[in-house]
Amino acid sequence: MATLLQISAFLALLVLIQADDPSGFMSIDCGLPANSSYIDAKTRLKYVSDAEFIDTGEIKNISSKFKNKTSENQFRNLRSFPVGIRNCYTIRTPKGGRNRYLIRVSFMHGNYSGKALPTFNLSLGVDYWDSVVIKDADTRVTKELIHVPPLDYVQICLIDVGNGEPFISAIEIRTLDNSTYVAESGSLMLHERLDYGLAPNQTIRYPDDSYDRIWSHSAAPHLPIITSSNDSITSNVFAVPSLVMETAVTPKDLNQFLNFMWNIGNESESYIYMHFTDFIKTGKGEFRAMNIFIHGSYWYGPLVPKYLSDVTLYSTGVIRAPNGGKLNISIQRNDSASLPPIINAIEIYILKQFPQVQTNQAEIEALLNIKSSYKLTKNWQGDPCYPEKYLWEGLNCSYNNSSRQTNIISLNLSLNELAGEISSHISNLTMIRYLDLSNNHLNGTVPEFLATLPFLRVLNLENNNLSGIVPPALFERTKNKTLSLSVEGNPNLCLSEPCNKEKNKKYVVPLAASLGGVALVLLTGGAIFWSQKRRKKREKQISGSSNQGKTLLMPLDTMFSYSEILSITNNFERVIGKGGFGTVYHGYLHSSQVSVKMLSPASVQCYKHFQEEAQLLTKVHHGNLTSVLGYCDEDSHQGLVYEHMDNGNLADHLSEKSNHVLSWKERLRIALDAAQGLEYLHFGCKPPIIHRDLKSTNILLDRNLHAKLADFGFSKAFQLGDGAQASSAVGTPGYLDPEYTTTNKLSEKSDVYSFGVILLEIITGQAAITKSQDNTHIIKWVISGLKEEGIKKIVDPKLGWSFINSSILEFIDLAMNCVASSSTRRPSMTKVVMELKQCLDVLENSQVNNDELSYSLDWVSLGSLISDSNERQ
Ligand SMILES: *[C@@H]1O[C@H](CO)[C@@H](O)[C@H](O)[C@H]1NC(C)=O
Ligand SMILES: *[C@@H]1O[C@H](CO)[C@@H](O)[C@H](O)[C@H]1NC(C)=O
Ligand SMILES: *[C@@H]1O[C@H](CO)[C@@H](O)[C@H](O)[C@H]1NC(C)=O
Ligand SMILES: *[C@@H]1O[C@H](CO)[C@@H](O)[C@H](O)[C@H]1NC(C)=O
Ligand SMILES: *[C@@H]1O[C@H](CO)[C@@H](O)[C@H](O)[C@H]1NC(C)=O
Ligand SMILES: *[C@@H]1O[C@H](CO)[C@@H](O)[C@H](O)[C@H]1NC(C)=O
Ligand SMILES: *[C@@H]1O[C@H](CO)[C@@H](O)[C@H](O)[C@H]1NC(C)=O
Ligand SMILES: *[C@@H]1O[C@H](CO)[C@@H](O)[C@H](O)[C@H]1NC(C)=O
Ligand SMILES: *[C@@H]1O[C@H](CO)[C@@H](O)[C@H](O)[C@H]1NC(C)=O
Ligand SMILES: *[C@@H]1O[C@H](CO)[C@@H](O)[C@H](O)[C@H]1NC(C)=O
Repeated sequence: MATLLQISAFLALLVLIQADDPSGFMSIDCGLPANSSYIDAKTRLKYVSDAEFIDTGEIKNISSKFKNKTSENQFRNLRSFPVGIRNCYTIRTPKGGRNRYLIRVSFMHGNYSGKALPTFNLSLGVDYWDSVVIKDADTRVTKELIHVPPLDYVQICLIDVGNGEPFISAIEIRTLDNSTYVAESGSLMLHERLDYGLAPNQTIRYPDDSYDRIWSHSAAPHLPIITSSNDSITSNVFAVPSLVMETAVTPKDLNQFLNFMWNIGNESESYIYMHFTDFIKTGKGEFRAMNIFIHGSYWYGPLVPKYLSDVTLYSTGVIRAPNGGKLNISIQRNDSASLPPIINAIEIYILKQFPQVQTNQAEIEALLNIKSSYKLTKNWQGDPCYPEKYLWEGLNCSYNNSSRQTNIISLNLSLNELAGEISSHISNLTMIRYLDLSNNHLNGTVPEFLATLPFLRVLNLENNNLSGIVPPALFERTKNKTLSLSVEGNPNLCLSEPCNKEKNKKYVVPLAASLGGVALVLLTGGAIFWSQKRRKKREKQISGSSNQGKTLLMPLDTMFSYSEILSITNNFERVIGKGGFGTVYHGYLHSSQVSVKMLSPASVQCYKHFQEEAQLLTKVHHGNLTSVLGYCDEDSHQGLVYEHMDNGNLADHLSEKSNHVLSWKERLRIALDAAQGLEYLHFGCKPPIIHRDLKSTNILLDRNLHAKLADFGFSKAFQLGDGAQASSAVGTPGYLDPEYTTTNKLSEKSDVYSFGVILLEIITGQAAITKSQDNTHIIKWVISGLKEEGIKKIVDPKLGWSFINSSILEFIDLAMNCVASSSTRRPSMTKVVMELKQCLDVLENSQVNNDELSYSLDWVSLGSLISDSNERQ
């Protein structure tokens, strides 16, 4: 520790002209009516309303009882946030980014709501700053930070943690000298700023303090105070006010120490700033010199304070509190000195990291400009892309973790009553791929800059009032099919000279047909261009994938190059699953989400007929199978692009972590959906497709909890080679047909076995390999549970008992049949589908009461299953 301390102190003696620049100040009174402002009586600083920095929240006055006691205007009113988890102020800093600011937020409740006092969180942008705990109605809570924002904006957010409505009274931003208060990395959060010798209940701030730091009285040790009789004290770069420096404390006795202790909390890393000035002109034989010890270790000294001139001693590295979280500073007389130690003021800060992943600034600005020019009332606040769960409505972002770049790739402002011209600010969304401005009242011409957006793939301008001619450059891009443009419903808009209004009635894009094929995908309102370059071009109408009436119109040839796959997945940025044959990534095909499964290199080697089979898969369409939208087969890169499902996979919904408990009926429906998908693979496809990697993570759910199987048919042509390598690539432990170990063959009945395991997961809520002490296989777990205590033991406790009727018995019976050790005893998927339908009928048509049920168990059939399953253990 001593070594750390020795190197980390620094003295500031430099004399500098004081900064006194209220133009670097910003004073916001939260809750002041819009467009109003006032000059504060004490500081003479102008406070403005917060209305232009935030769209949400409600203005409140504190109760009159507290109003009468409160002299400062800032605290008489406030803004409270009864709605929304996260509400943010976006404030342009007075001197732009990369400058050092003191940012102070204040809170005084004043019983404005008459309700209980809240606790909430504060964040700077997306990063946690501190918790705000309001202990009583008239205490002011302030949080202060010294911070260098990377961008021109700071975003101060209040986060409702479910413990009362957040509110805020004031926000103050002060520009500091950039060379002061420098932490090695990170920002400094104020812990204490004390002026020794200041009278109780007094504070010193602007205009005495040119940076408007607030200095307060130290209640700590009652030490004798000495005061300067001469006002002019020369300050250094820290510009501590004379008023603060002209008082100091000193021990009564020459040999006493000045000892101070602060509780800064375990694991806190602190920075300290000590300010000294001597008032006594040392004569002959008089001499003041002191040594500073931290946690008992020598830190700095001898330090000789200067006569009427400030010396600041500060740490250049962090000082950690030892166990117990106490910061202990002792100032001691140097043996040679004839005068006791003194100290005038001290500041203690805690280091705080703000990792600051943020969206590209020009894009944030563009969006804010778009918002204000169209007077959008959208609740666009905070960072557009962060936190990811609070993405701005109508946007999609791409996240590139390696370059820490986040960009807007999709903007949907359809049906937003936009009026006037197409905003030029859109030109700053340089990474945008999908832009939908349809169904608004936009007028004027289609601007040229749209053609310069390099990644734009879809532009929807339908049903506006646009006029003139579509810029030729834009139109050109539709011809080589790098852009899908929709302009229908703009009566005065022409595609090209000469103006032919007739042509305008339809989509423009089919011009691409001159190249041989229509490459167009229509998804819920938008038009998506399907980039495709190769091979025979045919058209096929493919029925909608969900019941929302989507129409998919796409070419059969859906081959992607590896570079297209890279762009779809943004360089394989987000892994959403791993399976026996490869890894599944999240991606965007223009603005639709997709899943991309890339085969592992081992699988690629073994895979003999990938392309044939992939083409086959693109033709498999069933309401309970995720659609294969395309594939990639380039060198050693083989992969499939699947439709994406909103609601994740079944395994997650069954797990403890899920915050939605699936009801019994939902579980039955999901089982039936999945069974129907599998039945179709086995009996509806020619040749039949064996799934081979069926598991609960491969059953995906849409927003209505309809289930679809994913990841099927990857291995029909997969040659199960002689090596262990190949067999390790087959299936997933826990789901693999036990017969496979002897026959080395997978059949439809192997899928049935895996499906049985899934049925058991559905009823028990356990994983295939249970999370219990000894990683028991679910079949063994169910059997021993049934033997010990019967059904109650195995049914997922999250279901409660309300659902129970004989449907559950049939279900368990069916599951046990599916997992029979001998494949010949397993039912076909057609049978499974029938039985599950029957279970659903039973559930829907019966109102068996629960008591009756426990007696009606069909132990005979369960008993026989148990003995069957026992054999193999
Ligand atoms: C504030 O001023 C702006 C422009 O000066 C005006 O549009 C707005 O209506 C005003 N708001 C209020 C509440 O007066
Ligand atoms: C707050 O008090 C001021 C005057 O004291 C009054 O004009 C204003 O209407 C009050 N605002 C609310 C929201 O009650
Ligand atoms: C607050 O002060 C005003 C006048 O200064 C007075 O009329 C009012 O009764 C006071 N309110 C309370 C709650 O003390
Ligand atoms: C202020 O200091 C920070 C580093 O502490 C530096 O990144 C920034 O560029 C400086 N700003 C100015 C305006 O000098
Ligand atoms: C706050 O107001 C409520 C109702 O208006 C009242 O019951 C309560 O006593 C007040 N609390 C304080 C601390 O004044
Ligand atoms: C609020 O802050 C606390 C303390 O850091 C943290 O544990 C909690 O998760 C935060 N809550 C929210 C909703 O951000
Ligand atoms: C300081 O304030 C407290 C409570 O607000 C009060 O009890 C005390 O008398 C005040 N002291 C002085 C010296 O004003
Ligand atoms: C376009 O719309 C704006 C706002 O509705 C209107 O002020 C302007 O006059 C319109 N321009 C034309 C050329 O119609
Ligand atoms: C685009 O962004 C740059 C840099 O932030 C800015 O200077 C420019 O004015 C912006 N252009 C438009 C049209 O908003
Ligand atoms: C498509 O056409 C546009 C405009 O003519 C041109 O800028 C672009 O490079 C072309 N792209 C391809 C892939 O041919």
